[in-house]
Amino acid sequence: MSTLRPVVFSAALLLAATASVSLAETPHLGKPIDEASIANWDISILPDGTGLPKGSGTAAQGAPIFAEKCSACHGDNGKGGIANALVEEDKKIVGISASQKTIKNFWPYATTIFDFIRRAMPYNAPRSLSDDEVYALTAYILAGNKLIDSGDTMNAETLPKVKMPNRDNFIIRFPDRI
Ligand code: HEC
Repeated sequence: MSTLRPVVFSAALLLAATASVSLAETPHLGKPIDEASIANWDISILPDGTGLPKGSGTAAQGAPIFAEKCSACHGDNGKGGIANALVEEDKKIVGISASQKTIKNFWPYATTIFDFIRRAMPYNAPRSLSDDEVYALTAYILAGNKLIDSGDTMNAETLPKVKMPNRDNFIIRFPDRI
């Protein structure tokens, strides 16, 4: 083995030298990205609400938006259609197996509902909602599930304070990394 070592060493040196040359001569693809464009992609919201934008909304404001943009798939008043029910007043929290996923039992944080709606819904036009609309829709879904009062306003301060009913039954795999 020891006789091979110098060969391997010089091959590594050669590779390093080649890499630095090719880095210096990039093919000039792509274009620099500005802060505004980065902000457009930087939309993750943490469970504690970090990243929530300005704006606000109530269930009353969310109802007509829901009827116009969501009920075609999620059913009238969110009771279920070709896509999942989002409002289930009466259903008890029975577990978190796939067949029983509901807003009440499968979402440990209300802030994640906001994040999901903003980035992914409506399914056919993601990122088309304003932040006020997303707050209003989140309030509408939470109020329908009786997790907030129907008159409550959701914003960056109030939404993180909503405690989802099944939050404490999720097992955090790496608690020390949070
Ligand atoms: C074209 C059909 C369609 C429309 C319109 C639509 N959704 Fe959805 N929605 C879906 C589908 C399909 C899923 C499941 C997506 C997945 O699991 O990746 C979903 C999932 C969701 C979920 C997560 C549900 C759960 O139980 O995990 C929420 C919340 C949601 N939609 C909210 C909305 C809101 C609010 C609107 C209106 C702005 C909306 N959706 C409009 C099809 C739709």
